[in-house]
Amino acid sequence: MNIEKIFQNNKKWIADKLAVDENYFEDLAKGQSPEFLYIGCSDSRVSAEEMMGANPGDIFVHRNIANMVVNTDLSAMSVISYSVSQLKVNHIIVCGHYYCGGVKAAMQSADLGILNPWLRNIRDVYRLHHHELDGIDDEEAKYKRLVELNVQEQCINVIKTADVQRANRERGLRVHGWVFDVKTGKLIDLKIDFQKILSQIMEIYRLT
Ligand code: CO
Repeated sequence: MNIEKIFQNNKKWIADKLAVDENYFEDLAKGQSPEFLYIGCSDSRVSAEEMMGANPGDIFVHRNIANMVVNTDLSAMSVISYSVSQLKVNHIIVCGHYYCGGVKAAMQSADLGILNPWLRNIRDVYRLHHHELDGIDDEEAKYKRLVELNVQEQCINVIKTADVQRANRERGLRVHGWVFDVKTGKLIDLKIDFQKILSQIMEIYRLT
């Protein structure tokens, strides 16, 4: 795909949308009230809207390397705060994916410069779960399991925020942990138990 092709595609997309609904863009311009916040990996193969069959206006999206929710990351924290408190999303999805380059890098010994502090957060997930992970002999199985555990830990990081705790209490906001399997196209629900996690961490992390 080249740059010219992108602008040709855009023209065709506009025409297609208007052919079905001549007010399509007028309506989009009126505002947004998405039901979902999606936090996923920047990986070019994991296209949030496409794999979910979602349309513009459906999902508020935040993507970074390895779908991390780091509490000092002003960008991720602003996205969570704005979408939960202002847009009133009712579901937050943390979606990881198998064959994630960020997770792979965190499993190896290599100095990757500016990426080191970012990947350190994934190494911390490994350390938290090293008993389970060290018991897995097969490297690919271990890699996939770390992807899942990372999603779980990032869901916990979402739940640690005040906005999310308040919205869960006030309107039943839910947090979901998913994994996208690049090899099959399948979305896998890790069935994160919000209330169980909440009860386990609230003694320490309760903010509201
Ligand atoms: Co990735």
